[in-house]
Amino acid sequence: MFELFNFDPKGDSRGSLISLEVGKEIPFDIKRIYYIYATKAGESRGFHAHKALKQVIFTVSGACDLVLDNGSVRQTIKLDSPEKGVLVDGVVWREMHNFTSDCVLMVLASEEYDESDYLRDYDEFLRWIN
Ligand code: TYD
Repeated sequence: MFELFNFDPKGDSRGSLISLEVGKEIPFDIKRIYYIYATKAGESRGFHAHKALKQVIFTVSGACDLVLDNGSVRQTIKLDSPEKGVLVDGVVWREMHNFTSDCVLMVLASEEYDESDYLRDYDEFLRWIN
């Protein structure tokens, strides 16, 4: 359903730097990058699955909770460090909650935006996977 990564920071006395390369940390060609920021207090996002999209998801700053649900198991991953990444590959329902005001949630995606790849209704998602 997902894979958790600890990215390897190139830290020195000045601070930290993380580099992500296609074919190394990112196991697909990146066609799109988007980021979610300035999320209002108490707002949640997501509530959909993708039919074919692969994504690597991480917070560049701040924190949020990423809920991943494969129709039988529901897990919450706290994304609270730029060193922590999640690969989501497969048809997985996702929700994002508890955004801190400084949260910048970055998503690297294997495909361009395509509304027909979305399952936005939970029952439709369950029908799709079964
Ligand atoms: P939405 O799917 O509601 O975001 P989230 O998954 O965070 O809840 O997307 C918000 C709007 O942005 C919606 O009108 C679709 C549009 N959008 C794009 O145009 N391109 C993109 O890459 C994404 C992710 C969304």
